[in-house]
Amino acid sequence: MSATDIIPLTGNHERYEDTYYNAFYKIAQKEFFVEKVSQYFDTKVMKILTNAFDRDEEFSILSVGVGEGPHEFHILKSLQTCYASISSVSVDPNESMVQTFKDRVASLNVDNKPPITFQAFNGSLTEFATTSTLARTKYHLITSIHSLYYTADLQTTFSQLTSMMKDDGFIIVVCKKGDLISESFSKFAFLREAIPSYIPLTSTDVKEFAESQGLNVIASDVNMQWDITEVFDDRSDFGNKLLDFFTQTAYFRQTAPSEVVDELMNFWRSISISTEDENGRMLSPCHDEILVISK
Ligand SMILES: C[S@@+](CC[C@H](N)C(=O)[O-])C[C@H]1O[C@@H](n2cnc3c(N)ncnc32)[C@H](O)[C@@H]1O
Repeated sequence: MSATDIIPLTGNHERYEDTYYNAFYKIAQKEFFVEKVSQYFDTKVMKILTNAFDRDEEFSILSVGVGEGPHEFHILKSLQTCYASISSVSVDPNESMVQTFKDRVASLNVDNKPPITFQAFNGSLTEFATTSTLARTKYHLITSIHSLYYTADLQTTFSQLTSMMKDDGFIIVVCKKGDLISESFSKFAFLREAIPSYIPLTSTDVKEFAESQGLNVIASDVNMQWDITEVFDDRSDFGNKLLDFFTQTAYFRQTAPSEVVDELMNFWRSISISTEDENGRMLSPCHDEILVISK
C-alpha cells in the first residue's frame, strides 16, 4: 500500500461526517448508546456533580471532539435542571459538525430556563490548549466522548486535560474497550502506517494511565454488537462508508490495493458472529467503557 494514496478520514471533513453519522452511527446503534450514556450521567454523575458544586455557581463544561454533540446535548439539558447558568466550550476541528451542535444548544436557551453560553474552538485539542485564552479557564467538567483516538499521546492529552480541570472537577471519557476498529489497527501494521494520526486506544489504556498519575477512575461497561453485513458488499455505498470509518481512511476501496481490502474482509469475517436467521447477518462484538476521572 503506498502511503501517498491514502487519505486519512479526519483530513476530509465532509467524508468524516458522512461516514460517521450516516453509516457508522447507525450500525453502532448510537441512539441506543447515547441513551445508555445519558442514563448513566443522570443516575450516577449528576449526583457526584451536585454534591461537589454549588447550584448557584455558573457550571462550566469543556467538550473535546464534540462532533454534533449527541451526548453533550443531553448533559447540558440535565445540567440546566440544577445550575443557575452554564458555560459550554467545544473543541473540534470539524466546523460543520460543531455548527449542528451549536444550533441544538441554541434551542435550549428559552425563557425561564437557566442560560447557556456557547463558544466553539475550531481546531485540535493541542491547538486549543496552546493558543486559546479559553484554555486558561478551569472547568467543572470536561467530556471526551470517542475522541481520544485523535488527540496526542496519553501523557500530553492528560496533562492538557487536567490542567484545564478544577481541582475538584471531573473528566468523562467514553472509549472503546475493544472492537473491530481497535483490533484491526492492532493486527495490521499497514493500517497503523497508513493512518499514523489514529491511535488504537482502549479504555484499559486510559484507565491504567489515569491511575498511574494518581487520578481516581470509576468505570462502567456498555456492550453491544454491530451489524457489519453491508461492509462485505463492494457495491454498497453504505458498506463503503463503513469500510472508510473502520479503516479511518477516505475512499479506502478506491485507494488501497485489493489484496489489502481482502485481508481485512477475511479478518472481519473471522471475528464476526453469523446469525442463524435466513438473512445470515454478520455481527461484530463491541465493548465500550464510560470512565469518570477525578483528582
Ligand atoms: C468519533 S467522533 C465522536 C464525535 C462525538 N463526540 C460523538 O460521540 O458523536 C470523533 C470527533 O473527534 C474530532 N477530532 C478529530 N481530531 C481531533 C483533535 N485532534 N482534537 C479534538 N477533536 C478531534 C472529530 O472531528 C470528531 O468530531
